[in-house]
Amino acid sequence: MFRIDRHPILPIPPRAEIPFLWEGRTLTAREGETISSALFANGIRIFGHHPKDGAAQGIFCANGQCSQCLVLADGIPVKSCMELVRPGLRVDPVEGLPVLPDVNAAEDLSALFLDIEDIRVPVLIIGGGPAGLSAAIELGKRGVEALIIDDKHRLGGKLVLQTHRFFGSIEAVYAGTRGIDIATRLEQDVRSFPGLRVWLQSAALAVFSDRKVGVLVEGRKYVFVSPEVLLVTAGAREKNLAFPGNTLPGVYGAGAFQTLVNRDLVKPTGRLFIVGGGNVGLIAGYHALQAGIAVTGLVEVMPECGGYKVHRDKLARLGVPIFTSHTVLSANGTDRVESVTVTRVDERFKPIPGTEKSFACDTLLIAVGLDPVSEFYEKAREFGMTAFAAGDAEEIAEASAAIFSGKIRGLEVARSLGYDVGGISEEWYRTAEILKSRPGKTLAEEIPAAETGVFPVLHCNQEIPCDPCTAVCPNNLIEIDKTDIRLLPVFLSNRDGKGCTGCEKCVAICPGLAITMVDYRKDPEFPTVAIPLEFLKETLQAGDSVVVEDTEGQALGRVEVAAVKAVKANDRTVIVKVRAPKEYAKKIAGIRLQPEKESDPLERYVERTEDDTIICRCERVKAGEIRELIRRGSRDINEIKALTRASMGSCGAKTCTPLIHRLFREEGVPESEIVDQPKRPLFLEVPLGVFAGLADGEEKGGGDE
Ligand code: FES
Repeated sequence: MFRIDRHPILPIPPRAEIPFLWEGRTLTAREGETISSALFANGIRIFGHHPKDGAAQGIFCANGQCSQCLVLADGIPVKSCMELVRPGLRVDPVEGLPVLPDVNAAEDLSALFLDIEDIRVPVLIIGGGPAGLSAAIELGKRGVEALIIDDKHRLGGKLVLQTHRFFGSIEAVYAGTRGIDIATRLEQDVRSFPGLRVWLQSAALAVFSDRKVGVLVEGRKYVFVSPEVLLVTAGAREKNLAFPGNTLPGVYGAGAFQTLVNRDLVKPTGRLFIVGGGNVGLIAGYHALQAGIAVTGLVEVMPECGGYKVHRDKLARLGVPIFTSHTVLSANGTDRVESVTVTRVDERFKPIPGTEKSFACDTLLIAVGLDPVSEFYEKAREFGMTAFAAGDAEEIAEASAAIFSGKIRGLEVARSLGYDVGGISEEWYRTAEILKSRPGKTLAEEIPAAETGVFPVLHCNQEIPCDPCTAVCPNNLIEIDKTDIRLLPVFLSNRDGKGCTGCEKCVAICPGLAITMVDYRKDPEFPTVAIPLEFLKETLQAGDSVVVEDTEGQALGRVEVAAVKAVKANDRTVIVKVRAPKEYAKKIAGIRLQPEKESDPLERYVERTEDDTIICRCERVKAGEIRELIRRGSRDINEIKALTRASMGSCGAKTCTPLIHRLFREEGVPESEIVDQPKRPLFLEVPLGVFAGLADGEEKGGGDE
């Protein structure tokens, strides 16, 4: 079984076992598990084969956005990443085109039709992630009624995938608390307000010109919701990348990986490689290591990773090689990933021949950025509705920024309904901007000169919004400019006659694991260094010999572990103490855990041709077909669509449209010349009977919990 049964951060709750059938064979799922996760947990990665060319199909987004994961559930095609396993469910692969189910022709069909319910609500919030929940709480506090809908089976959005402590401001957005725990707090708050209703597994399908929102409730009941105000907090979808082998099962989004590992506790791979050095890719690599999965390497096309340097450094120190100015050339294998080939690129991002390398892996994570899920907001504005957007649906940024923009938008929504919310402080808008900001300057690391007593060394040297270390020192020795928490914190050796006591609170709370504590009191020649680690306590033991590294992952030497401390107050952050020569003790920032051999390249690199590059995953249209049309003068995506079927598939053009635009760019066609296809009104596939309110023989409620 491919399940995680121990994790340094995530609780492993007991879950009832649920038998279900896969191709007639009985397998076991866990309660509350999606079909795709249950299949992965049983070692099944291929969910069917494409009707066009027989290519193996698996998951890509695990977020209901791409339709790659289609299976037949009791004979009905469903997205397996969105559908929960039910006891006795019969699941089959989709081999070729699904056949329409054999619906019994009832004598009087009209007797089976129900009226579609039309519900009026003051506020409809689409998306129960950090922004939606934060907005709802502000509304709840003011007695404003709101309905929150979310297509997942639990609230929290991407927060439920985050095991690390959050950056940002302690005061404003729970910085220093782990994402999974922030999700729990926000949900508890939402549930405490009687005016806030939640519909889970309920997806918005479209915003219509009569200002109604079509909602599919629990996959089987269609209702119209007419809100006075619509707030869209639907988050983001992952960008796709075009390269040969990009649709092999085993190539999927970093968010899908985090869903499998951190939400569903499934171990989908033994060895992975990552494309993209933004925060999503860096954090996914960290999550993999926490789950006991080897990370062979990470490529980033830019000369520097775009994510927070502390995330990058954490990964490098654990032993993951990070190749900047590199890109992926191909994922290799016939019906699953067996290796990845990467190359160095020049300053115009063109591959440099002779620099190719291949690495063995069974999974390739794509983490090349996010696009806002903003369609509902745009349509609502077009149809003259009072509508707001917050979080990633408004602008891609960190989840901490989404929490804060949600708070503000909650107040704005209340104000638009006539509630007196007072003035929304300018300071709040400024905080929102600070939390959204991209990483700033990287400065030279300041290593204190002292070699006596005990004191922390702050290894964070890039300007990012983050302040938890400044709130925990009992003697207030770590200071930050509260008007701009992007500026680096400073350690004061003494305040009011009090110095550092070595309590290690700052070491434990730093979200970037970028603070160590150096203690010269017992042995000035061989001081003790306390290093934070978010791995199981048993990973290291006193007496182990370990390689210690500087901030960026350069080895400094081999030292012995003196002690490993796991105390409740440190909230699952383990403190490892090593004794190291004073020559480099202050430079130590981390411990290498992953052996170097995990990153050895193959002896020869594996090549694939450009022809293999799929642009439209649903209809399996290759780059060459579209490029040829562009070269022949096509500028209208509708024409490309009609001639190739690109963007006509079940994902509703969500994954291929940006890639088609990229092909235009590669061919030198300016955006202004491209004619886009119209956005389809329905967000996902729905059985037609649902729109007619076709009764399914059971009295099923509207989804209120
Ligand atoms: S993997 Fe299920 S919709 Fe994308």
